[in-house]
Amino acid sequence: MEHTKGYKRILVTSALPYANGPIHLGHLAGAYLPADIYVRYQRLKKRDVIYICGSDEHGVPITIAAEKTGVSPQEIVDEFHFRNKEAFARFGMSFDYYGRTSSPVHHKTSQAFFLKLHGQGVFKKKAEQQLYDPKAGMFLPDRYVKGECPQCGYAEAYGDQCEKCGTSLSPTELKNPVSALTSEKPQLKETEHWYIPLGHFQKQISDWIATRHGWKSNVLGQVKSWLSDGLADRAVTRDLSWGVDVPLPEAKGKVLYVWFDAPIGYISATKEWAEARGDPHLWKTYWQDAETKLVHFIGKDNIVFHCIMFPAMLMAHGDYVLPNNVPANEFLNLEGNKLSTSKNYAVWLEDYVEKFEVDPLRYYLATIAPETKDSDFAWQEYLTRNNSELADILGNFINRTLAFTNKQFNGKVPARSDLDDLDQMMLRAITKAPKEIGSAIEKVELRKALTVFMDVARTANKYFNDQEPWKTVRENPAKCATTINICLHTCNTLAVLMEPVLPFSAEKAWAMMGHDTDVHAQVWDGVAKIELPAGHQLGKTSILFRKMEEKEIQPEIERLQNIQAQLRGDVPVEETQEEMKISYEDFAKIQLRVAKVLAAEFVPKTDKLLKLHIQLGTERRQIVAGIAQKYSPEQVIGKKIIIVANLQPAKIRGIESNGMLLAAEDDNGNFSLLALDKEVNDGAAIR
Ligand code: 2FM
Ligand code: ZN
Repeated sequence: MEHTKGYKRILVTSALPYANGPIHLGHLAGAYLPADIYVRYQRLKKRDVIYICGSDEHGVPITIAAEKTGVSPQEIVDEFHFRNKEAFARFGMSFDYYGRTSSPVHHKTSQAFFLKLHGQGVFKKKAEQQLYDPKAGMFLPDRYVKGECPQCGYAEAYGDQCEKCGTSLSPTELKNPVSALTSEKPQLKETEHWYIPLGHFQKQISDWIATRHGWKSNVLGQVKSWLSDGLADRAVTRDLSWGVDVPLPEAKGKVLYVWFDAPIGYISATKEWAEARGDPHLWKTYWQDAETKLVHFIGKDNIVFHCIMFPAMLMAHGDYVLPNNVPANEFLNLEGNKLSTSKNYAVWLEDYVEKFEVDPLRYYLATIAPETKDSDFAWQEYLTRNNSELADILGNFINRTLAFTNKQFNGKVPARSDLDDLDQMMLRAITKAPKEIGSAIEKVELRKALTVFMDVARTANKYFNDQEPWKTVRENPAKCATTINICLHTCNTLAVLMEPVLPFSAEKAWAMMGHDTDVHAQVWDGVAKIELPAGHQLGKTSILFRKMEEKEIQPEIERLQNIQAQLRGDVPVEETQEEMKISYEDFAKIQLRVAKVLAAEFVPKTDKLLKLHIQLGTERRQIVAGIAQKYSPEQVIGKKIIIVANLQPAKIRGIESNGMLLAAEDDNGNFSLLALDKEVNDGAAIR
């Protein structure tokens, strides 16, 4: 499927990272590297594409970071804006513009946006009781307050979200709230704010979402769940001193909510980009012309803002295009554990680029991109992927071809003559690769794109082996020349096809092929047909991918293990058990089986228990289940249920129970027995 059909230009954004700390691998794998690969590919496709990002410099994350380190918010954002910009550049992120939301253009743009919506009567102004810290003399929006999550009971939930169960919250929903500033118990105090009534956009958003084809199921799933819960009013202003001032005389001391101004940051940064190019109105073409394909790359925690709130703002404004796609990624874990910036359990990009090469990381991260579910970064696997794929397959093919050419043909491309079947097969492989890899990248299926790419290099190695040029060089020089000519064309093709993922190695390989042109400016389509005339002089050869040694990664592994060990000592048992993983062997000990309920009755003098007689193949059993408040005996008789069949027998209220049935219950108390999707005989094992 051609995803860019009908569009004249593509505007790609990556979530603006908060300038309150450094970038780590989790950021890269989610919102940045996938976008960079996508954009680099589009450039090689010769499409009109721009890639916009920048620092998110407002919001409570910034002011809290400033308070923690005892400096001003301005100092925090000044430090991290430049550090992050630099680290991204070293990682090969090819932004066309990296802006910042503290810029005057951004303040003006977001204020104008607010005023337009205000003028149209979009907002509701409401006076409400909010949490206030009398000691600090300020209201406590978002993360300024902590407390118990009303959904899961987690004690350290923030006023905007519980990090444990992911529920979005408002500060007043927290149980036993305390101020994150003074640890005081907050008071309620009245304040006025402007709200965007998202409910008014419910239908428009639902209709629009229904037209989104090719969106990832994780994204649609989250959006549909928000929609089915019904969209509520959301405040777009805050009682804070750091941020974009609300541009209304009656709103002194109030700023725009960071999630109102941050996405507008994409627009402001595009304005600045256009300004810097000397064509100040050009930004409008990208944002306001229906033939623009707008794609937001984000992590899954940003889905609601990019798929509901920002689109509602854009709809309300009316002048803008809506996102064509929001390919949000899931999260990256680290060595089997959750990444944690506050616990320093992360691999920081700045550290990485000081010690290691960039392309092996880009490659490994792309192969484990958390596209459909959370994935795991492991140093050992990183090393293996580098050594056994980049070095042993891709690098090996290019280096052996060049070494052979240098030795036998003085570093000049030999002429091609008659082609045999293997030659034809190799040429077919490189001819169809751009399309296959490209269509995976269009769909942001990067893992797949890389598999296809690496398979071409595998095929090429096999071709080299099968043609045995080291023999034919003596026995059949014309055939040897043909083989090497085709190998060199393959190297040339691989050099361009690797560019989106391995931009630094692509430059190196391109130069080794004897080109003085820019590999980043090549044309993706037809790359296999680029002329390498006989006699073309190759460049200087060097090792493309260096093999790494265990000792290089050992300190990194140890550092992370040490942090985990410390954390194990610190965290309460309950929490460690939550995160405890079991082996397959452990899981396999549990026998789950299908059972048919033959008879059921209430257990006298209880209101929760049913006694069930069940059939398990040839065997009959009795179990006691705590489902009487959700199911009557009539409702379960004849049903097929799932039970744990090898649980030790137990006596419940004096009645023997020989197994346990499985049911699901959500936080709202919705309760369901586990059911089968198709008819299966009782006694069947669950695997
Ligand atoms: O989650 C974050 O890191 C936010 N700073 C992302 C903002 S994305 C955009 F809206 F600016
Ligand atoms: Zn929770």
